[in-house]
Amino acid sequence: MADVDTAGRKCLLRVDFNVPFEPGEQTISDDSRIRAALPTISYLIQQGASLIICTHLGRPKGRVVPGMGTEPVRLRLARLLDAEVAPAGGPVGPETAKVVSRLRAGQIAMLENLRFHPGEEANDPAFARELASLADIFVNDAFGAAHRAHASTAGIARRLPAVAGLLMTQELEMLGRILEEPDRPALAVIGGAKVTDKIGVVQNLLDKVDKVLIGGGMSAAFIAAQGMNPGEPRPSRSDVEAAKTLLDAYGSRISLPDDVIVAFAFSAEAEARVAAADQIPNGALILDIGPSAAARYADEIGRARTVLWNGPMGVAEWERFAAGTRTVANAIAAKPSLVSVIGGGSTAEAVAKFDLTEKMTHVSTGGGASLEFLEGKTLPGVAALDERSA
Ligand code: 3PG
Repeated sequence: MADVDTAGRKCLLRVDFNVPFEPGEQTISDDSRIRAALPTISYLIQQGASLIICTHLGRPKGRVVPGMGTEPVRLRLARLLDAEVAPAGGPVGPETAKVVSRLRAGQIAMLENLRFHPGEEANDPAFARELASLADIFVNDAFGAAHRAHASTAGIARRLPAVAGLLMTQELEMLGRILEEPDRPALAVIGGAKVTDKIGVVQNLLDKVDKVLIGGGMSAAFIAAQGMNPGEPRPSRSDVEAAKTLLDAYGSRISLPDDVIVAFAFSAEAEARVAAADQIPNGALILDIGPSAAARYADEIGRARTVLWNGPMGVAEWERFAAGTRTVANAIAAKPSLVSVIGGGSTAEAVAKFDLTEKMTHVSTGGGASLEFLEGKTLPGVAALDERSA
């Protein structure tokens, strides 16, 4: 943003305010994505810009869906800023253009859900042009949506001077540090349900970091890949194949849990038992890594200088199956000199639940976007900014 003079100019600021809500309600359950954009918003306001803020929310698929409007995030933003954020409707159209044209320096308006318009996800040039006509400068702070080639992330950047916001810059610097020059020893801790969802990430990371520690439901596929009983549900053939491919290629640079916590029902109240990884009873479900694995992982983290963490070690939202995830989080938090980068989504939620967010070097606001970035893929929203600065 330092490259452009925003004083007295209208800035269209793309943010990712796709926040979670309490089930069936209009109450935001986690506003970290809104808070993360506050530095960019405050900076632009201090510079004397007027702001047109836009975001997607949910997946309304090009139609106006009641209950998916931006009203709750607009109100939360106004509260956090202690400033007025005017509703601008739209996201495009004559009424919106009128509201925007009246904005003075330092004033803020917010558009309606970008995905209410079919042109957004289609990256329709006419929609991108109409959005661009609202402003003088495009600022993209929506790292969480940068893996989407949509009108408000990619298309618009060709039509206005386009720059990255502070959050976008920070995300790219912190995640980029893992892939480029991590302080060593560097570890990646990877959890989550399916190996196939993360095989690209694990592969790419194994070329950059020293070791990958595996946890979560995907442990089952690695256990099966070694010819042992993975319990229930059986991991899919493609997951086991993916795990085998990784073990063949990287051997001991992949650390697997030597014990796990199992239960005989997928329930928060189910009785939790420790089982050695090679002695999982028939019909048991793996719901966490075991105490021995957790202690070993904590030890590895204690010796590392950089840790990237993506995916909880178990069903962290259920207390009986949260110990592995908590041990990893505590081990990271206990070492202030560690560079720790936490992937977005459920890992960020787990860290927040343990009240350890402030102890991490960086907690990403991107779920899918951070995964694709770590996989080494080009993010269209970032590429569009790069093209403009080239
Ligand atoms: C996210 O929550 O990961 C981003 O906001 C992207 O949302 P999408 O998966 O609906 O494109």
